[in-house]
Amino acid sequence: MSKGKATFVCGVCGHESRGWLGRCPDCGSWNSFAEEKEPVRQAAGRGNWALRPDSREPEAAVLALADVPAESTPRLTSHLPELDRVLGGGFVRGSLVLIGGDPGIGKSTLLLQALAAMGRSQKALYVSGEESPQQIRLRADRLQLGQEPLDILAATDFETIAAVLASRKPEIAVIDSIQTLYVEALSSAPGSVSQIREATAGLLRIAKGLGIIIVLVGHVTKDGAIAGPRVLEHMVDTVLYFEGERQMAYRMLRCVKNRFGATDELGLFEMTESGLHGVDNASMALLAGRPIQVPGSVVTACMEGTRPLLVELQALLQPSAYGAPQRMAQGLDRNRVTMLLAVLDKHFQLGLNNVDTYVSVVGGLRLAEPAADLCILAAVMSSQNNTPVRPACLVFGEVGLTGEIRSVSQADRRVQEAFRQGFTSFVLPGSCKLAVDRLRLPEDCDLFYVDRVGEAMDVLFDNGAQKP
Ligand code: TYD
Ligand code: MG
Repeated sequence: MSKGKATFVCGVCGHESRGWLGRCPDCGSWNSFAEEKEPVRQAAGRGNWALRPDSREPEAAVLALADVPAESTPRLTSHLPELDRVLGGGFVRGSLVLIGGDPGIGKSTLLLQALAAMGRSQKALYVSGEESPQQIRLRADRLQLGQEPLDILAATDFETIAAVLASRKPEIAVIDSIQTLYVEALSSAPGSVSQIREATAGLLRIAKGLGIIIVLVGHVTKDGAIAGPRVLEHMVDTVLYFEGERQMAYRMLRCVKNRFGATDELGLFEMTESGLHGVDNASMALLAGRPIQVPGSVVTACMEGTRPLLVELQALLQPSAYGAPQRMAQGLDRNRVTMLLAVLDKHFQLGLNNVDTYVSVVGGLRLAEPAADLCILAAVMSSQNNTPVRPACLVFGEVGLTGEIRSVSQADRRVQEAFRQGFTSFVLPGSCKLAVDRLRLPEDCDLFYVDRVGEAMDVLFDNGAQKP
């Protein structure tokens, strides 16, 4: 490549082009291309591998899988149980972790709390490119962590940070944020695709080479992806997202990629005056203050990783004022809700095509599981009839287009969690009977196994349903 040839790079996904484009052909973003000069790369000088007949295999490159020593990955606890849970048991030595989230959601707070706790037994370094040491101190005082043994460094220059990491060799370092770093050798601005890519590659080498856990903070764009190139997500070992409504106290920490564990765990935090606190009894917290025996409110159980969570769904139906009825779904997939409404309409002739329908998940949670289907329909029906569902009732099950109720996974754990929270009546798919019967719930619990939407509604609104 000729010296410093300019290319245009999409700031959202990293797509490269020779000329400027108004719309990225890869990710579809508008006006995201910026000019960047490619750094001059040394030619490798080792081309034409296959053509050399004498090429010998470098030693120790290929191993038999069984000969690879089976190391258990030693983990470092962050002293925040909810964070450890999402990471799969703690930080893995030498791993590169990316944590993304909206501004103000609490990324810096979370990491400062974790580092301060880890600083008592490990060497920890907090690198901030966004805040001055004084600002960090103020925040630490607010969290009552001002006296904790923790080193801080306010820097944005990659060389400086690399040199400090190499000479101090902390066990864990936080870089807040990757978008503020710049590599001197590149002419583009901090936060540009090539800067982020170069800085991350450098940090990856340091993490692997020196066995330092490096946690990168990444900003999130308007549409919710980590700003800068997606390449960032490919390069790191673990990607966490910190999400939630900023106005509400609860924050969810999710893992979307993890080379050292499962990705379906959820950490739940509450933002308080004195920082983030893990929520142990998430179901109780989410159901607190719930209206009892009110039309339109029904509770379901969803699985977040290995943990069952009880959440309240609410529905409100109103005659439409305009031609096309509104379909609003907060915390749920709108298309899924529209489909479920069609199933309900078909079976019960409710005439929903001139009714506005609002469905929402209470507590700012987002549900993607089809197990919530039956609960959505129960809430809609309850609002439509202006009748509450049977008392202390938990509802779950996937609903198919023909109105059949389909099985969901881990039904026993959902029922057990609900029973623990005082629910005594359960409406669930017939195919879950085997799993749930093993729980041996007390006599006074009512288990209603249903196979059709019609059956479920009879049971929920007590239309002469037989006790099982
Ligand atoms: P912050 O950690 O700065 O967010 P991010 O790094 O993701 O941008 O979050 C700060 C927000 O949290 C800010 O709006 C104030 C609030 N907050 C509290 O409510 N309690 C606290 O103890 C702290 C430190 C912050
Ligand atoms: Mg911050």
